[in-house]
Amino acid sequence: MTLPPTLLSKEMESTRQLIEESLSRYLTLDANSPERLTEAMRYSVLSPGKRLRPLLVLTASRLCGGNDDNALPAACAVEFIHCYSLIHDDLPAMDDDDLRRGRPTCHRQFDEATAILAGDALIPLAFEVLSRDIQPGELAARCCFELACAAGARQLVGGQSDDLSSENLAIDLEKLEKIHERKTGAMLAVSLKLGALCAKAPLETVVCLEQFGKKLGLAFQISDDLLDLRGEQDKMGKRVGKDHSQGKMTYPAALGVEQSEALANRLVTEAVDSLSAYDARANTLIELAKFIVSRTR
Ligand code: IPE
Ligand code: IPE
Ligand code: MG
Ligand code: MG
Ligand code: MG
Repeated sequence: MTLPPTLLSKEMESTRQLIEESLSRYLTLDANSPERLTEAMRYSVLSPGKRLRPLLVLTASRLCGGNDDNALPAACAVEFIHCYSLIHDDLPAMDDDDLRRGRPTCHRQFDEATAILAGDALIPLAFEVLSRDIQPGELAARCCFELACAAGARQLVGGQSDDLSSENLAIDLEKLEKIHERKTGAMLAVSLKLGALCAKAPLETVVCLEQFGKKLGLAFQISDDLLDLRGEQDKMGKRVGKDHSQGKMTYPAALGVEQSEALANRLVTEAVDSLSAYDARANTLIELAKFIVSRTR
């Protein structure tokens, strides 16, 4: 299955290439990492993902006048955490999926234990990269802290846990918002925050970009829910129509398609408006924000 292009600008396409090269370099592990494990890590990370989170890291850094080399380790670290979360999300004990990024999921291609371990290994790799390659050490420690918070029990993992325990329950809109903000929003927000931090942006910019990321993150998961309902498997590279059959708490289930779409659009508009002080410097971030609600994968 060949996934369609994401129709982003030339600038974003070449930035994506930069990210892919860097991810591949970081995944050239030595012989102390068992071959099959390394192969599973590379298989999952280097499969054709959109790279939205690392693109947000680098775009935020550029907006703040930072250079790519200083932010690339953070861009790769967020993608490693994201990829581990996908591998585990697809496991039989979680969403039980067999297709990801147009290919068999990690546990289907390898086996369950290898998939669990490949996911496990990506978590410390993210922090190894941040702690070694972000300079100075104080900034590295801050980045590790921010990513640990976004990935942990209060955010990503907590959201995933509530997502699973809410299956087949009556929809509670407040709870649903919290699930989406944590399982997905936190990683988008921290991507923007890390980009700003790596560019040594002033506090008000860091806060502004993080808030922008939170709105975008919620809009992103709403659009993921919508695509599960009416997207095409060949474009998405993953199975569609699963949320309903698994009794997931989703926005279309709660509000219907039209209102969910309207809400995602409103969140993106609010997010874009919040960047008005940055004028043309925000254009690429705005492009990414609009992509989130217009995408077909
Ligand atoms: C999928 O994320 C998981 C969600 C948070 C909805 P993406 O849609 O960014 O997946 P890839 O990285 O492009 O495969
Ligand atoms: C997953 O949400 C969010 C993660 C943290 C991985 P979904 O379960 O809806 O993501 P997909 O649809 O499988 O990509
Ligand atoms: Mg899930
Ligand atoms: Mg899933
Ligand atoms: Mg989904």
